Amino acid sequence: MANYDVIIIGSGPGGYVAAIRCAQLGLKTACVEGRETLGGTCLNVGCIPSKAMLHATHMLHEAEHNFAKMGLKGKSPSVDWKQMLTYKEETIEANTKGIEFLFKKNKIDWIKGWGSIPEAGKVKVGDDVHEAKNIIIASGSEVSPVPGADVTLDEKIIISSTGALELPKIPKTMIVIGAGVIGLELGSVYSRLGTKVQVIEFLDKITPGMDGEVQKTFQRILKKQGLSFTMGAAVQSVTAAKNKASVTYKLRKDDSDHTAEADVVLVATGRRPYTDGLGLDALGVDISERGQIKTDAQWRTNVPGIYAIGDCIDGPMLAHKAEDEGMACAEVIAGKHGHVNYGVIPGVIYTHPEVATVGMTEEQLKEAGTAYKAGKFSFMGNGRAKANFAADGFVKILADKTTDRILGAHIIGPMAGDLIHEICVAMEFGASAEDVALTCHAHPTYSEAVREAALACGDGAIHM
Ligand code: NAI
Repeated sequence: MANYDVIIIGSGPGGYVAAIRCAQLGLKTACVEGRETLGGTCLNVGCIPSKAMLHATHMLHEAEHNFAKMGLKGKSPSVDWKQMLTYKEETIEANTKGIEFLFKKNKIDWIKGWGSIPEAGKVKVGDDVHEAKNIIIASGSEVSPVPGADVTLDEKIIISSTGALELPKIPKTMIVIGAGVIGLELGSVYSRLGTKVQVIEFLDKITPGMDGEVQKTFQRILKKQGLSFTMGAAVQSVTAAKNKASVTYKLRKDDSDHTAEADVVLVATGRRPYTDGLGLDALGVDISERGQIKTDAQWRTNVPGIYAIGDCIDGPMLAHKAEDEGMACAEVIAGKHGHVNYGVIPGVIYTHPEVATVGMTEEQLKEAGTAYKAGKFSFMGNGRAKANFAADGFVKILADKTTDRILGAHIIGPMAGDLIHEICVAMEFGASAEDVALTCHAHPTYSEAVREAALACGDGAIHM
């Protein structure tokens, strides 16, 4: 039991970053975490392990499809599934241990166990009650149930992303419910491992909310890679038999009923805030209808001294959004001016090719009645992409028609998740497309495609 300036509940990217920033700002800080390891969903069962699996299977795909073309002959690698899972586990361990090291370095106490808030200023973990002038709730999110369907996860045959990262063997067939980020990333992993993957999606387009042109190109590329799509289909039920699961769904266009079977069903229909056991009801913390903790623009809840950040509040459920809120919230507590620009938060899907997006889509600009111009450049015109068999996709920059100020960018192509940040920085500086177009870009790089898209907003791209 000790007295702290700040106690943070949850050590995911929101919580651990908030803790480090609090400590850097001279606040006596503790972080409560009930898992065996720090890092939350992202490091333990989310972003990091899935990226390890995406990397390993992308390497396999390159070996199977592109090595021979480059004159690299010989037996292509076969999959040692056990070793691939070990590689994933080692990746997790390296990252979670890294956070432990950073906690020690910054003199942050890790209070092990699940925390609750009996009253403002107090955090209870086990039988101990710790005092804190400020409490930050960073308790994250959990898998949400399939809307309108009765589905029970067993994490063996009917699985969430967590189960998908530790299947005992590679399934022959997999049904993915939901063509969102999780479904397409993990669907890609298994498709590359030889699993026949069928994606069942409620809407008529994949990755809801993304730029329409990106959605179309992305789906075409994924189909070419072997994923099949059943669109406009509302899943009604999922049942597991001995070694199989069956999914019933209704096609929305004609209300017809269908059944599909697979070895494994991955449920990827979204996540919801996780605030169980914190005692928020008794405290009187305001919660929205969607289960999100309500905060003001500086992450204060309605209860003085209690803040909330990350997946358990409003906004996109993204690790980097939570990190930014963590830093900014720490600064507010320390009496500084913490700020997050919600207009410039990139979103990335780590398939191959990657998909990355920031700012407004064409659809949103049309709806808002904003006059805009679109500069587009295909990776077919990019020398580096052609050399690397990575010329599928494009960069699209959207700029204000009159002022040329960049309003958004949408990239599908190699390293899109890294390329997008040039546009993020440009947008933070209120740059015009011409500012990017006039900036010298090294040749030959994928980044040249970004410059060419900016040039296409003006007098025209060079290599198109
Ligand atoms: P999502 O919200 O991205 O996609 C869910 C999909 O399921 C939607 O397309 C929806 O229309 C569909 N759906 C819902 N009910 C359905 C039904 N009954 N039948 C068929 N389809 C149905 O959710 P997802 O992929 O589960 O991801 C959860 C959260 O985690 C998201 O907020 C995502 O941003 C985040 N995440 C981000 C990653 C990244 O940034 N790379 C990676 C993984 C997750």
